Amino acid sequence: MHSLELNPEEVKELTEYTLKHILTFYQTLDHQPINEPKWDDVKLESKKIIEYVPPEKGEEFSEVISKLFNSYIPAAMNFPAPGYMGFIPSTGIYQAALGELIAKVANRHVGHGRPSPFLTQIESNVLRWFANIIGFPKTAQGIFTCGGSIANLTAVITARNSILTEDQSLSTATIYMSDQTHHSISKAALAAGIRSENIKIIESDNGLKISIPLLKAAIEQDKKKRLTPFLIVGNAGTTNAGTVDPLEELSEISLSEKIWFHIDAAYGGFFALTKRGKEALKGIELADSVTMDPLKSLFLPLGVGSLLVRDGTFLHKSFDFNASYAPPLEYGDDSTFDYWDPAHMSLELSRSFRGLSVWLPIKIHGISAFRSALDEKLDLVSDVNTFFASSKEEWDVLYHPELSITVISAKAEDKTLEELNSINMRIIDEVKQLNRIYLSGAYIKGKYTIRICVLNLRTHKKHILQLFEDLSEARKKVLTKY
Ligand SMILES: Cc1ncc(COP(=O)(O)O)c(C=O)c1O
Repeated sequence: MHSLELNPEEVKELTEYTLKHILTFYQTLDHQPINEPKWDDVKLESKKIIEYVPPEKGEEFSEVISKLFNSYIPAAMNFPAPGYMGFIPSTGIYQAALGELIAKVANRHVGHGRPSPFLTQIESNVLRWFANIIGFPKTAQGIFTCGGSIANLTAVITARNSILTEDQSLSTATIYMSDQTHHSISKAALAAGIRSENIKIIESDNGLKISIPLLKAAIEQDKKKRLTPFLIVGNAGTTNAGTVDPLEELSEISLSEKIWFHIDAAYGGFFALTKRGKEALKGIELADSVTMDPLKSLFLPLGVGSLLVRDGTFLHKSFDFNASYAPPLEYGDDSTFDYWDPAHMSLELSRSFRGLSVWLPIKIHGISAFRSALDEKLDLVSDVNTFFASSKEEWDVLYHPELSITVISAKAEDKTLEELNSINMRIIDEVKQLNRIYLSGAYIKGKYTIRICVLNLRTHKKHILQLFEDLSEARKKVLTKY
């Protein structure tokens, strides 16, 4: 096999071999299985590839790559497929993957501006674009992360460091969020040293939005107990149902209580590009910080999230450190320099050119292409609404979409809650067995529900029509057994 350092001919050969597989992958995406394999079918096979020590000798490149593309990759839930409407989809457009390849080949250190001035500037520009999309002021700064969870963690740490004073004990610090908030926030709070009993989960109302009276009462009560409220988290698109909290009211409370206001818009944030999305996300611009995941509503591949902070100096105050081997970099006194040093604004130091996978697609298509694609998703969601409005005998819409998630249940009036939960679970399974559409479910307020999340760039009208057909077929099949 080749030596570790490849010569240009070998680079060409390996790349061309891989490209053939990539092309086949794209050409057959529509027909690849959409489901993860049945666990019972695959668990023994997957055990066979367990290895505890690294192989001493290499295998043929062609064999390794073929095994990946022919056996391992197809045996996985098919996120990029057009019929994928489960959880929160991530399309993974190719232009972004190409950006990632270039970033890895160039292998530049994009932790500081001085060593990579153009690359850092490109990342700062993209983050400025994001700030502009949600209406943040010029003081805003941000960072790229590997996803929403780490963006949320960075936000919680920034809030903690910005609001709590040195003489306030971490043991009294309290954080508030609704019961619909993504679990990454609770994980982040624990990682940031917040006591579990001080993570206050506020019940959501019937529309799955945080209850403002309950939130106010909880803050009042905690202050009487000498606790220190320091963070309110609002949702701009919950994972379960895509619902948006009353952001303007949350902002008012955070201002009057002097509490940091973070919005988790990991899923919903980029809908602000569209007129309808902007309306649904009213108040997002009032937050102190916002998580937005390009990997979700900007159709990019897994591995790229972001955090924006309305006043970027708070990020610096939390994460600006130097060391003897990495002394402060001087930029001179030219205030027109505009790039931000990610290493001084985040937990990371050595980092690749992560922002390239976002910049490249936006640069070559323009942001209008993304706006149109998101508008198309919102149009498809209107079709979903119309279908269920005309199928009231068969389906209940439990939560109407504010963005692009519709939550439904089969209608079966003579059934108990338990039976209905099991019917919905089995409908999801039956739809998945048809192998064209992927749906996932969730317990919401005690009911097991069916979620339809339209967010894949590749999902078009014909896939929505397929969804209706498959749901009807699955429902009939399940109900005949009950
Ligand atoms: C609203 C919300 N926040 C945060 C996350 C976590 O993001 P990630 O999976 O990229 O860490 C998710 C994931 O789906 C989410 O839906």
